[in-house]
This record gives sequence, structure tokens and C-alpha cells, in this order.
Amino acid sequence: MPEKLDIVTIDGPSGVGKSTVSRGLANRLGFVYLDTGAMYRAVAYGLQQAAVDLENEAEVKRFLDGMKVELLPPGRPDDDVRVFLDGEEIGGLIRTPEMGMLASRVSALPVVRKKLTILQQAMGRNGKIVAEGRDTGTVVFPQAAWKFYLDAAPEERARRRIDQLKARGEQVDEVEILAQIIKRDRDDSERTIAPLKAADDAVRIDSSRLSASEVIEQMLEVIGR
Ligand code: DC
Repeated sequence: MPEKLDIVTIDGPSGVGKSTVSRGLANRLGFVYLDTGAMYRAVAYGLQQAAVDLENEAEVKRFLDGMKVELLPPGRPDDDVRVFLDGEEIGGLIRTPEMGMLASRVSALPVVRKKLTILQQAMGRNGKIVAEGRDTGTVVFPQAAWKFYLDAAPEERARRRIDQLKARGEQVDEVEILAQIIKRDRDDSERTIAPLKAADDAVRIDSSRLSASEVIEQMLEVIGR
């Protein structure tokens, strides 16, 4: 059996609290937090800005070959990772529901998945990371020592996302947010390559009635720290 890597993977549907939990767990373990969703969002943003035709695989590939996505740790431990595309900081521009929908669409393209999977594996080369996404336990890091699958009912996830957006002072169409979550779940789970799915050896946690710190404590128990 291949040797297990010093990596934690946390997969699950959108709005389940993966980012807060992954960031908190990474802080507790002294690991680096790898937000793979931010990479798909950055690529979606770049493709949109460059007006690339998503149906044209050669054009998408040319964009991917020329772009540079970088993730840097935030200034404060509770902030989102800083995301750069070709040197431009875009974190504030990609964390919108619309960019989430576009990232989901873009993430179904085989050339995009291939490129980002390779980048993510390179980022995890030295271990000691908490990787968060849809396929981190199944495809990106199948040899991770600890795998989790976080889940919660769509209505609960929509409620949390609505609270988050309101806290940022944004206008929220609550019915639309729930509809987007349900569509993204379906599209992410039904795509052919690397669909959203729990790895066979993942520990499942339902976060519907748990706070982020309670989820982190459960994970630390599984990890043995
Ligand atoms: O986690 P997020 O909401 O930032 O992710 C945005 C989209 O990116 C998500 O709907 C699907 C895609 N994604 C993916 O396909 N694989 C990953 N490992 C992470 C994200």
C-alpha cells in the first residue's frame, strides 16, 4: 500500500463551512491551508476577463499555459487566503455567488482540472497542508492520511451563505441563493471528471447542528491531536 501523506483533505458541497473549518484546522495543526476552490475561481475570473470562449479547448489551454495563480497566507489568521492572478490581487473579486457559479462551470472542463490538479499536487509536495475542495480526497491527494467529507442540508447552507453576504453589507436574493446552491451541488456532483464525492476512506461529518469549532474539535480527535 502506498505511504500515507501528512495531508488533511476536506471535501464537501458549497456553503458547508469548509473554508472556516479548513483555515481553523490548519492554524491548529500549524499546516498550510490550500483553498482549491479559490484557484478555480481565479481561473474562472481570468477566463472571463480575457473573454475566452469556454467551448474552445485550444483557447482555454492557451490561457492556462500563460497564467500564474498564487495563493498567499492572509495577514490575519481568520482572513481568507490572498489570491493573485498574474500578480494582480483578486481575492475580493472572486468571492461572489456569480463567480462561484462560473467557477463551477469552468471546473468541469478537463483542461482546467488537469492544470489545477498538477498545481495543487505541487503545492502539497512537502505535506503539512489542509486541502479543501470537491476532489481533494479522491483525486488530488488520494494518499492523504486524514480525509473528511463535510455535509449539511442545502437550506442550512443557504442560510449561512445569506448571513455571510448580509454581514458584508451585500443585497441578498434569498430564493436565488438557495437555487444556486442546489444547482451547484447538482453540477459539481454530476460532472464526469472528479465529481464532488466522499472518498471511501473519508470520515463524514454533518455540520448542520455544529459550530465550526465543534467540527474542528471532532477532526482533531480523529487526527489524534
Ligand atoms: O469551494 P468554492 O465554492 O470556492 O468552489 C468554487 C467552484 O469550484 C465549485 O462550485 C466547484 C469548483 N471546485 C472544484 O471543482 N474542485 C475543487 N477541488 C474545488 C472547487
